[in-house]
Amino acid sequence: MEQTESVIGSKSFTAVAVNCASKAGEWIKSKIGNFAEPDLKQSMHDLVTEVDKGSERLIRNLIGTHFPHHSFLGEEGVEPGPEASVKALQEVSEAEYLWIVDPVDGTTNYVHGFPFYSVSIALAHKGQVIVGVVYDPSRDELFVAERGKGAYVHGKRMHVSNERTLRQSLVATGFPADYQAALPENLRQIQALAPQVRNLRIAGSAALHMAYVAAGRLSGFWEIGLNAWDLAAGSLLVEEAGGKVTDQSGAPYQLGVRNVTASNGFVHGELLEALAKA
Ligand code: IPD
Ligand code: CA
Ligand code: CA
Repeated sequence: MEQTESVIGSKSFTAVAVNCASKAGEWIKSKIGNFAEPDLKQSMHDLVTEVDKGSERLIRNLIGTHFPHHSFLGEEGVEPGPEASVKALQEVSEAEYLWIVDPVDGTTNYVHGFPFYSVSIALAHKGQVIVGVVYDPSRDELFVAERGKGAYVHGKRMHVSNERTLRQSLVATGFPADYQAALPENLRQIQALAPQVRNLRIAGSAALHMAYVAAGRLSGFWEIGLNAWDLAAGSLLVEEAGGKVTDQSGAPYQLGVRNVTASNGFVHGELLEALAKA
């Protein structure tokens, strides 16, 4: 019997997202230390393994079984490099329902056995993220948000942190995959920010950094040159936990944002200003 999407409702969207993230996460964890040598993508700093591809296949198949008419944007279905990412997002910009998936965010960590990587799954309706799930298999932590219904970890409501100034803030960033154009700018920002904040972290998974802002473990996060699959799920986690997500000029988050700033809201202005001055 055919079920209509309105009957299925957003709760089932979330249930499918959670199921996909936990299944993929378990599988990824089971493959640790048991995969072929990684391939290089854009540069020696940008890796992909058979596990990234297998995880995406698993998620795509599961989503396709439940929602065969929905569109899908996954990192491993797109050629490397910013131009191809921008084009891939444009191609699905008219989609009513769009799943946006990073099958392993933090592949370099995964390859080295550094336990900070995640699966990131978002569902956008007419361009607006309505479900965001980030799963950390190393800690079995599942971060879930539904638009208008809050953000949760372990089923417990999440709230952003309370720091009111950069001086009190623990802030994260990430080294961009594009070492030619983006890295020099990123390094200028790091140099400018480091003396102004309590401390900096660069742990290697943008999606988990966003989840940590939502959970109040980080006061803020910024990075340049990210893609929709790195940010979509995390953006809803942060917003639903009471925080703020913009691009680095302060414009509100939308799927095309590549240079992101996320925070508890209180330090957002100060963080944007410090980045702009860098
Ligand atoms: C990377 C991670 C990393 C960030 C890079 C991303 P990937 O994603 O999120 O933290 O600094 O910019 O490309 O390649 O591991 O999915
Ligand atoms: Ca990623
Ligand atoms: Ca990835």
